[in-house]
Formats: sequence, structure tokens, C-alpha cells
Amino acid sequence: MSVDPKTIAALAAEYATRDPRDIVEFAIREYGPDIGISFSGAESVVLIDMASKIGGKFRVFSLDTGRLHPETLQFIDRVRRHYAIRIDVYYPQAEALEKLVREKGLFSFYTDGHKECCAIRKVEPLLRALKPLNAWITGQRKDQSPGTRSAIPVVQLDPTFNSAKHRLVKFNPLANWTGKQLWAYIREREVPYNPLFERGYSSIGCEPCTRPTNPSQHEREGRWWWEDETAKECGLHAGNVTKFQDGNL
Ligand code: ADX
Ligand code: SF4
Repeated sequence: MSVDPKTIAALAAEYATRDPRDIVEFAIREYGPDIGISFSGAESVVLIDMASKIGGKFRVFSLDTGRLHPETLQFIDRVRRHYAIRIDVYYPQAEALEKLVREKGLFSFYTDGHKECCAIRKVEPLLRALKPLNAWITGQRKDQSPGTRSAIPVVQLDPTFNSAKHRLVKFNPLANWTGKQLWAYIREREVPYNPLFERGYSSIGCEPCTRPTNPSQHEREGRWWWEDETAKECGLHAGNVTKFQDGNL
């Protein structure tokens, strides 16, 4: 499969209005087995459900930051058993994490911003997860974040991690789905879901950086609520933020 930017842009235009299942099918057909679904223990379970039904060879990986809710860890394992799949779980490197905590404590993100902690707990493990892959699949949607995700295409050359040395394609099959469509899929097909969604959480990340939202709030308001709306990307999807300062990556 070509990774020429023009070909990818044409593909994104062609698939923009297609059903997410068609996009997942195309992605696995073209890039399997060197393609990975990134599963955070939240709504991206839908991608696993679609891929499992489509068949073909793909990987699934999760980044265990060490700060996930116990419910999320339990859910990741439930999904592993439910779909009888292997989930590659990546952990932060102990030395870098110990240094951060020794120097700044366990909650430095509330005062120093979340990027430093996310760089150690999420981004560095993500780099290792992506290393053997030519493509990855994420659960990002435009409606998740008007501030940073309103323009994401269904497929792109990874805006952050693609390089001349490592060509990396990023699929966002759910980009044009609304949360309502996603939840209709979950309910209709009895897809297992994280129980935190029944306790007021509308977006789920690390426990200290995630809180329930009320119905009048946008889901992203429950994440890193002490920070500016347009900075709410942790580094996994930093390319969504055009002026992202990537000093911590
Ligand atoms: S985040 O960057 O703000 O944390 P978000 O929670 O909206 O991301 O999730 C968007 C997509 O990023 C998920 O659907 C999933 O594909 C990927 N993702 C986020 N966190 C993780 C994680 N801990 N492990 C694996 N994939 C993740
Ligand atoms: Fe650290 Fe919070 Fe980022 Fe998790 S979301 S890695 S706890 S700053």
C-alpha cells in the first residue's frame, strides 16, 4: 500500500462517508498483520468488535499508564477474554517515572500541566507499541473535542509519528460518527462497555485527570479540566493541535 500523501488524502476523501466497518476492513486488508488497534479501555472497544467480526490479522494494544481506574483495567481484561484476543499492554519505563515522581511527586500535572507526565506514561510507551507497525487504528471522533479534533480525517499519514524512516498510517474510522451513533452500535450489538460510563463519565482517561460530567457539559470537559480547551491533547494525538509545543515528547 502506497504511503504517498496524495494517495492517502484521496483515500480519506473516498472513505469519509463510508461506514466505519468498511474503513476497518480496508485498513486490516491493506496493513494486516502489522496494524494495531489502540484500545484505551473505553469506547474504542467498538473497533475491536468490528475487527473481530471482519476477521484478518491485526494487533490490539493498550497503554497502562499506572493511573487508570481499576474498572478500566478490569474492562481491558474482560475484552481480552470476551473476544479471545491477545492485548499487548505497554507500561512506562520505570527509571523515567521514578525520576519524575521523586522530583515532582505524584500529582505534578495539576500544577505543571499534563504533558510531562503524559510523555512518560503514555507517549514513550506508545512509541514502543508503534515501532513494529505500519499503521494503527484509533477511536478518535470529531465530536469528542471541538477544540482539537474537528478536522480529523478517517485516514492520514500520522501527523506526529510518521517519518521518512518510519512510515506510519493512522486510521480514525469513527471520525465522522457521533457519540449517539457509537452508543447505538454498542447497545444494538451488546458490545461490552466500561461500567464508568454508567457513573457519569462521558470520556475516560487516567483517574486523576478524568471526572464525571453533567449533561450540559461537553465530554472533553471531564478531562484535564484545569487546562485550556485547545491544549487538551496528551501527545498520542498531538498532531491534532497545530501549534503543539512538543518539548516533552
Ligand atoms: S487521549 O489522547 O485524550 O487520552 P482519548 O481518550 O480521547 O485520547 O482516546 C482517543 C483514542 O486514543 C482512543 O480511542 C484510543 O484509540 C487511543 N488511546 C487513548 N488512550 C489510550 C491508551 N491508554 N491505550 C491505548 N490507546 C489509547
Ligand atoms: Fe499522567 Fe494524567 Fe497524562 Fe495520565 S492523563 S499520563 S495521569 S497527566
